[in-house]
Amino acid sequence: MKEKFIDRKDQQANKIFERRTLASDYRTLRPLLKPGLSVLDVGCGTGTLTNEVASHIGDGTIIGLDNTASFIDIGKEHYAETENLDLVCDNIFNYQPPHQFDLIITARTMQWLTDIPKALKLFKSWLKPGGQISILDYNHTTIVWDPAPPETMQAFYRTFLRWRADAGMNNQVADEVATLLQQQGFESIETINADQVYHKGEADFETNLAIWIKVAQSKQMVTEGYISDELRLQAIADYTHWIETEARSMTLKMNDVRAYV
Ligand SMILES: C[S@@+](CC[C@H](N)C(=O)[O-])C[C@H]1O[C@@H](n2cnc3c(N)ncnc32)[C@H](O)[C@@H]1O
Repeated sequence: MKEKFIDRKDQQANKIFERRTLASDYRTLRPLLKPGLSVLDVGCGTGTLTNEVASHIGDGTIIGLDNTASFIDIGKEHYAETENLDLVCDNIFNYQPPHQFDLIITARTMQWLTDIPKALKLFKSWLKPGGQISILDYNHTTIVWDPAPPETMQAFYRTFLRWRADAGMNNQVADEVATLLQQQGFESIETINADQVYHKGEADFETNLAIWIKVAQSKQMVTEGYISDELRLQAIADYTHWIETEARSMTLKMNDVRAYV
């Protein structure tokens, strides 16, 4: 994955992660949470959602796993008092879980992996017999802005998708992971729509739409020759103006894909 890109976005990313709630950012998960469950949250970021899950599983336990040390450090500090929560800094592909889990959840993380089948194979081995997985992720190719954003941002976004695809990341994971789960032998696979829709007038509308400004603030695509710095900066300026004036809504296309072993 593009480690440097993530590193440079650490500070802004953790602010986004810290605003997350199950009700607005993983609203399909709540019915799966039962007292006594043993849960693993893969790619937990700063552990905000992980900590909320901990409050819904009674005497159950949850481990949050993430390979960005600064996120885990923040989570450990914020949630030190949550007794049934453990945050661990490790890479999915190195991690040795201490036990098997009833439930594995992973939100917005498969989008960053370059070998999703390998990760799913590991997850299968980490689940107890009859255990369940819930994968919440994006289809970046079907994002809907209303009205269309400025051409400079559209060009930036097209380049962003090409850059991701060239790096081996799946831009359509939300719509492809069910097939990948099937190929790994998971059963009872179910896809639940989990689109995130932001409308003008709602709290945090501008902040939520500004996600693409944050992405464009990274110079990595310039450094790697994908885009000129002029176009990147123009996209930021035009899109900022568009958010303040014309923007009515943005829909991030997402699914929660669930399956059992
Ligand atoms: C977009 S964030 C999602 C955070 C949180 N789940 C949420 O929904 O807000 C993706 C997280 O996956 C982590 N990540 C990416 N690749 C990983 C890997 N190979 N092993 C462990 N964590 C990884 C990143 O560090 C990042 O915190």
